[in-house]
Amino acid sequence: MKNLLVTGGAGFIGSNFVHMMLERYNDINVVVFDKLTYAGNPDNLLPVENNPHYHFVQGDICDAEAVDAAMQQHNIDTIVNFAAETHVDRSLMEPGGFIQTDVYGTFVLLEAAKKYQIERYHQISTDEVYGAVLTGRSVETDRLHTRSPYSAAKAGADLMCLAYYTSFDLPVTITRGSNNIGPYQYPEKVVPVFVTNAIDNKPLPLYGDGMQMRDYQYVLDHCEGIDMVLRKGQPGEIYNLGTGVESTNIELAHLILKLLGKPESLIQPITDRPGHDRRYALDCSKIKALGWNSSHNFEQAVEATVKWYVDNEWWWRKIKDGRHYQEYYRRQYAGREVTP
Ligand code: NAD
Ligand code: DAU
Repeated sequence: MKNLLVTGGAGFIGSNFVHMMLERYNDINVVVFDKLTYAGNPDNLLPVENNPHYHFVQGDICDAEAVDAAMQQHNIDTIVNFAAETHVDRSLMEPGGFIQTDVYGTFVLLEAAKKYQIERYHQISTDEVYGAVLTGRSVETDRLHTRSPYSAAKAGADLMCLAYYTSFDLPVTITRGSNNIGPYQYPEKVVPVFVTNAIDNKPLPLYGDGMQMRDYQYVLDHCEGIDMVLRKGQPGEIYNLGTGVESTNIELAHLILKLLGKPESLIQPITDRPGHDRRYALDCSKIKALGWNSSHNFEQAVEATVKWYVDNEWWWRKIKDGRHYQEYYRRQYAGREVTP
């Protein structure tokens, strides 16, 4: 691994991964290839902008010519694909873009990886491909049971990656991560919505009964797991990546309010997300066998995240004040309040 193409590197997890890789290694070049959609933010990459081992290319992973040019120009030997439309609620409003980027864009990258016979293509996937898991834990060989347009698109991409491994011997690996939280997460996902709303004394919109369970992991733990798989993972293999511990959304809301010293009356129940998956739960023994372990538990991950949003109002305030965000917020939440 010498010249790494990080697609979607201006987003939440991708930018944290870029920071971590450039801090960890001084013998690799990192090329971020990102379309800069509403979720891609050059501010996320400010900490590395003067690093001589970092380069930025603005481009769409669905654009084969642009991908090819970046592969050639930077002599890419490894691709890590974070680029995707990622928000489940937006996939319920406008699924087309999810199929385009998450499925077709992955295909374009796989073709480029095949053409240039690169050392490794790594796909960032999600625990959502297993669907709702009411009891037990998902293992990597479980059947996929997707229920939202987002998870269906991600599953399509996973299957295409595995097809390129089987059909063309492409050295593909996949990680299926649980919910990430931490710095630079766009304030549409639950934790940054709750934290930034609470700071402003605004309601925390809680879907349904708030008893849905997610495995909230700290983003840098996830990034360390990806690096572990790049170095020690076997081609053709899938690795689940999470803490293996779930919490309910109501617990999450209580913890955030406690950390910020805000009243519980800020919790506002609203109508549920259609097709809302009740629980995700991963068995992570396969990646732990490679030597990886998460270093933040739920409370530590939420505390570090809350602190970052308190300290970095410059980052999220301009997003939340923008017209795009305010229109999204109205479309997403207006009129959904329910009286408990
Ligand atoms: P994000 O929405 O914060 O960022 C996505 C990035 O991809 C943005 O920078 C955006 O500009 C870029 N992008 C979108 N379409 C593109 C295109 N056509 N071409 C090039 N760039 C494009 O996403 P995230 O939360 O950082 O998620 C990153 C990856 O991790 C995704 O593949 C997601 O499915 C997966 N994942 C996310 C989580 C989570 O909790 N956030 C958990 C597991 C897996
Ligand atoms: O599990 C991994 C997935 O986690 C990733 O693949 C996705 O890209 C990422 O968006 C995330 O999906 P979720 O749907 O789990 O995340 P979200 O933050 O949207 O919601 C988390 C939980 O909180 C879920 O049960 C719905 C609930 N929720 C969400 C929002 C935005 C609320 O109660 N209120 C909200 O306003």
